[in-house]
Amino acid sequence: MEVVIVPDRSAGGAVAGGAIAALISRQPDAVLGLATGSSPEPVYADLVARHQAGGLSARRAQAFLLDEYVGLPPGHPQSYRAVIERAVTSRLDFRSQSVRGPDGNADDLLAACATYDAQIVAAGGVDVQLLGIGSDGHIGFNEPGSSLGSRTRLKTLTSRTRADNARFFGGDTAAVPSHVITQGVGTILTARHLVLVAWGEEKADAVARCVEGPITAMVPASALQLHPHATVVVDEAAAARLALAGYFRETWAAKPSWQGL
Ligand code: GLP
Repeated sequence: MEVVIVPDRSAGGAVAGGAIAALISRQPDAVLGLATGSSPEPVYADLVARHQAGGLSARRAQAFLLDEYVGLPPGHPQSYRAVIERAVTSRLDFRSQSVRGPDGNADDLLAACATYDAQIVAAGGVDVQLLGIGSDGHIGFNEPGSSLGSRTRLKTLTSRTRADNARFFGGDTAAVPSHVITQGVGTILTARHLVLVAWGEEKADAVARCVEGPITAMVPASALQLHPHATVVVDEAAAARLALAGYFRETWAAKPSWQGL
């Protein structure tokens, strides 16, 4: 696993955005895995800036969302589909039919989960999967205890995650749906490159457990240690509890620029 420690989230957005832009440049029909939450916002801002400057086109790319709430009315502003459209896909030149997410309003939710995994496989798999991390170490909506081999499925959120996400629902925890569809940890691990971004001291403990703790279902993000190409981009505050921070700084400083992430 490569850990890149940057001065602030804007610098981190440029590092992760640069890697995604480089992928699209060498492979215009790349399949991107997009994540919601506030953590990926600097990455999306970087990609939008590159697009506006004329250096990046997502016209031939495809995108798959990581997760979705169950039962929000279609078009609800906090549905992850709507969030991703606002934050990134409508601001790049993605074709709308090339952006897919789990169907949280399907009559048959279990069938929708299986269909979603099949769509990812049919697209040739995800080339780069962007990830945030929950304060309890979750990725996507794979809460602690999630099988590290899990596939896209229905999950129940913990009260901590619902409280964390209440800020998007006017501060009302009860308004946060209790059920979601999320790519499983095993699904996420099938992506060819994982890029997890985290900022701020409130993520420091989760980042340390993800990078340096034991691999355990209690910290779903620790499954990144099993992946042959995983990159963790963090600011100084989120890196504060990493025992190997000094080593990570040395390796990043010594890395040849041609190598990329
Ligand atoms: C939600 C999302 C995750 C995200 C997490 C952290 O649970 N499903 O994908 O990583 O929130 O969000 P934030 O980046 O806003 O801290």
